Amino acid sequence: MPKRAKISVIGAGGNVGASVALWSAIKELGDIVAIDLKRTLDDGTEMLPVNGRMLDLAQSGPMELFDSNITATDDYSAIAGSDVVVVTAGIPRKPGMSRDDLIGTNVKIVKSVSENIKQHAPDAIVILVSNPLDAMVYTAWKATGFPTHRIIGQAGCLDVARFKTFIAMETGYSVEDINALLLGGHGDDMVPLPRYTNIAGIPVTQFISEQRLNELVERAKKGGGEIVKKMGTSGYLAPASGTVQMVEAILKDKKRILPCASYCQGEFGINGLFVGVPTVLGANGVEKIVEVDLNEAEQKLMDESAAHVQELVDVVKNLDPSLG
Ligand code: NAI
Ligand code: 2OP
Repeated sequence: MPKRAKISVIGAGGNVGASVALWSAIKELGDIVAIDLKRTLDDGTEMLPVNGRMLDLAQSGPMELFDSNITATDDYSAIAGSDVVVVTAGIPRKPGMSRDDLIGTNVKIVKSVSENIKQHAPDAIVILVSNPLDAMVYTAWKATGFPTHRIIGQAGCLDVARFKTFIAMETGYSVEDINALLLGGHGDDMVPLPRYTNIAGIPVTQFISEQRLNELVERAKKGGGEIVKKMGTSGYLAPASGTVQMVEAILKDKKRILPCASYCQGEFGINGLFVGVPTVLGANGVEKIVEVDLNEAEQKLMDESAAHVQELVDVVKNLDPSLG
């Protein structure tokens, strides 16, 4: 009998994690285990808010027509046998903060979550979402000791979707026909590549002037901050959608080429770092990194972005030498 896939989401009581559960359920990708922390109320009562959030989601099943067993708990033994574990645990940024400002708190959270994953789901493929993303992928890699093909970061799916959205808004053409490539870390120095961007195969420069395109590139690079400014915390529907694109590619062994934070060993001139690169995702997690030719200016941007990721990894190593 074929078995349903098992997707665990750590931090599912929060905005991004709950939305990962939502998109996964709607796409009927499998059963879901939602892990989050207990809260103690002022009167000393303990509650597990993720329980309510997941019950609310389960109750949309008869209307959205999905079958998924959704379990909410703070007990990590429930994640045993997971095919994919998504980590969204951690604090998000508030207006005026950069993703990098979260590192001190989130490195501790992601380390402890990763140790639990190592103990209870040692064969899972792990997708990191917590910020600062590239440094949290590194943290999870060190804390689990998993092979690099089973540790992946979500950033590029979201960032390139933001770039595509702005192109669709500018031209009025369907998002379905917009293709774009984006490399680098999940910071404001990410690298959208207009030279590899087209609408239905036609170079995007045929539709948008170079100057306007550069404005859209800048908007995409600062896309996370734009949302934080507008609503006081970071976005969650699109970030979760990007994550579930990855989950789906893995569970269905689709061999999609998605921009993911994957471990580079010489690709794009980057060595020993998780950075956003075109990644073939299938049942084994990262199956291949696809290299593309960069011109001098593009390679310089990629080098700068990778240097920023290296700085963040150095901060992690300083904060916790056991992750060195
Ligand atoms: P949130 O505050 O709504 O949710 C975070 C959840 O993590 C909370 O429910 C909290 O209880 C839980 N948590 C904290 N410590 C935990 C632990 N030790 N074990 C289990 N659960 C724990 O925050 P939100 O908006 O969901 O963001 C989550 C993270 O994702 C943030 O670090 C944010 O910056 C990041 N993010 C990353 C994106 C990306 O593209 N990579 C995009 C959007 C957000
Ligand atoms: C975002 O890009 C804050 O990483 C988060 O929305």
